[in-house]
Amino acid sequence: MGTDKETQSRSNDIMEKSTYTIRPCCLEDLEGVINVNEKELPEDYPYFFYKSILDSFPESFLVAINEDGHIIGYIMWRVERLPALNSLNLIRKGHLVSIAVSKDYRRKGIAWELLVKSMPEIRRRKISEYVLEVRVSNYGAINLYKRLGYKIDSIKKKYYRDGENAYFMIKTVNNPL
Ligand SMILES: CC(C)(COP(=O)(O)OP(=O)(O)OC[C@H]1O[C@@H](n2cnc3c(N)ncnc32)[C@H](O)[C@@H]1OP(=O)(O)O)[C@@H](O)C(=O)NCCC(=O)NCCS
Repeated sequence: MGTDKETQSRSNDIMEKSTYTIRPCCLEDLEGVINVNEKELPEDYPYFFYKSILDSFPESFLVAINEDGHIIGYIMWRVERLPALNSLNLIRKGHLVSIAVSKDYRRKGIAWELLVKSMPEIRRRKISEYVLEVRVSNYGAINLYKRLGYKIDSIKKKYYRDGENAYFMIKTVNNPL
């Protein structure tokens, strides 16, 4: 689990080694975002879906850019009203819609930084939990989320189009990053 100290020290390491920039996504970036998504993930979305996330939740839609100005990673979130555990009450949750980093730029801390920078942004929308789905076979992503304090809550059977199960992972917002 990521402590404040660990997160800060990791961020400092990233700043020192950094050859990339993280900044909010803009409309002109969407083509590059879609390009990374199509190369790195089997789940793809139509253009209007990205555009609607950008229109509605721009502050937590971030991109990573390399020295040549090319998009090499992105993260996008949205807020959903979902039932609370054991209750019919709807609560606001920050749902990680998608995150990906280009293969050549992995294990440099880019996804970590995308998450650490975007989570406080979506949190401002008065959510009580961060939630996400991840393929049960996606060891790297599961490890990343666990290190940031996410816990496996349940399994969503056949969640993906190819029939693979997903772990549903949660982090409550009052846990420190
Ligand atoms: C998952 C993904 C986003 C990680 O991106 P990344 O920039 O390489 O991740 P980071 O460098 O920030 O990793 C931070 C930490 O997460 C963990 N981690 C990340 N990738 C890992 C891997 N392949 N195996 C084990 N641990 C991993 C490690 O603890 C890592 O710290 P370390 O490098 O000091 O050991 C990237 O592999 C990816 O784009 N995969 C394809 C798309 C995808 O699976 N998205 C998630 C869908 S839910």
